[in-house]
Formats: sequence, C-alpha cells, structure tokens
Amino acid sequence: MAEPAPAEAAPWTATVLTLFPEMFPGPLGHSLGGKALADGLWALGTVDIRAYARDRHRTVDDTPYGGGAGMVMRPDVVSDAIAAHHAPDSGRRLLYLSPRGRRLGQPLVRELAAGPGVTLVCGRYEGLDQRAIDAWSERGGLEEVSIGDVVLSGGEPAALVLLDAVVRLLPGVTGKTESLDNDSFEDGLLEYPHYTRPRDWDGRPVPDVLISGHHARVAQWRREQAEAITRARRPDLWAAYAESEG
Ligand SMILES: C[S@@+](CC[C@H](N)C(=O)[O-])C[C@H]1O[C@@H](n2cnc3c(N)ncnc32)[C@H](O)[C@@H]1O
Repeated sequence: MAEPAPAEAAPWTATVLTLFPEMFPGPLGHSLGGKALADGLWALGTVDIRAYARDRHRTVDDTPYGGGAGMVMRPDVVSDAIAAHHAPDSGRRLLYLSPRGRRLGQPLVRELAAGPGVTLVCGRYEGLDQRAIDAWSERGGLEEVSIGDVVLSGGEPAALVLLDAVVRLLPGVTGKTESLDNDSFEDGLLEYPHYTRPRDWDGRPVPDVLISGHHARVAQWRREQAEAITRARRPDLWAAYAESEG
C-alpha cells in the first residue's frame, strides 16, 4: 500500500489584530517579502478588533479611570479578539506592540523566525487596558515588544517593522545574492561599508583593498571597518562584542 503523502507543513504565519486591517500587507506586499507572501512561503491574516465590539456603535475604547487625556482600548473587546484568533498551545508567540516592551533586536527576530509564527496585537489611543495585558500574559504568554524609544500613533507601523525583519530571515525569502550573514548585528557588529561602480565617483575612489582581488585582505579590512564603526557609533554593542571576544 502506498505511503500517505506527508501533510503540507503550514508556512510561518502572522495574525495581526488591529483597528486598521487595511494597513496590511502594505509595504510587506512588495519586494522580497511580497513575492514570498504570494509564493506561500509565509502567510498573513488580519483581524479587525472592532468586529469584537459589544454595542451597536462598535465601541472599542473608553475614557481612562482616574481621568486624564486620551482613550483606552477596552479589555473585553481586545481579549475576545485575541481569544478567537490565538491558540496558546499553537507555539506561536503572542506579542503586544508597545513602547514599554522588550526592545526588538536581531536576537528576538531570529527567535521569531525559528518558530511557527506570531500573533500581533496593535494598540491605538493610549494603548490597552492593563487587565487585558495581565490576563493574556498569564493565559497566553503575551509579551510586550517595542521597536525603540519612540512613541508611534499605533502598533501597526511597529508590526510592519517586526514582520519585515522576520520575513527576510525565513527560508527561501532572501535570495543567495543577498547575504544575511554579514548583516549588521549578526556577529555583534555594525556592518562594514559597501561600494559599487563607478570605481571613481565625484573624486572619491573605491578603497584600493577592495579591488586587490586578495580575499583575506578584503575580509580583514571589512572586519576592521565593522569594528571601528561599531566602536565609534555604538559603545553598548562594542562593549558586549569586546567582552565576547575575550
Ligand atoms: C500613542 S501609542 C500609546 C503610548 C502610551 N500611552 C505610552 O506612552 O506608552 C498607541 C499605540 O502605539 C503602539 N506603539 C507606540 N509606540 C510604539 C513603539 N515604540 N513600539 C511598539 N509599539 C508602539 C502601541 O501599540 C501603543 O498602544
């Protein structure tokens, strides 16, 4: 009897909970990520949080207890949306984009790319009622993730940034011509400078070593440049790198 064909493995999948589903795929529908999406190398779903509103006005936010400016996203509405679209045992990480979260960096991006996918919750207004954050931290391992020390008007641009960074690492997305190994942060350093034709431009020649054809010298020069740039621009990265190099 013939062996049954192996079930198709589900592609890496992102589900984005948002009040603005029309913002997706947005820039993710273009270039390498967009082609990969069309080719089924990853999948993207959006959920309109407003669909989980409980009243005929489809209210998703309300005024803050304790007073103050701005509105707060209601815990019941957001929680219902999460419950309907996130299975805690799926292995997918549940992330709330938030300026108070763990800072997004290449190590977290690599972790996410290695898993089965993510569920992303995008805040608006002053953000989510704390009880929804607490409940889903306990129930579904919700983690808060920030794209940096800036305040955006909503989580959607942050979700696009996170997804762009993860998707380019998925198998088959980035072609051979675009090496991932030398990217900034991959070895704890910022990347060395790049040059292409013309060899002389605007009175600025390409560094001689790059046209020497001497691979070992090119590699050493690039390493030195990466170290010098990192030392000058990012003392935090440099200190960690110097420690790891002993
Ligand atoms: C105007 S912000 C709320 C800012 C919040 N009141 C504070 O000061 O922390 C609205 C939403 O944008 C998203 N957001 C803003 N800045 C972000 C950042 N740096 N990283 C990730 N998400 C961010 C979050 O989802 C947040 O709930």
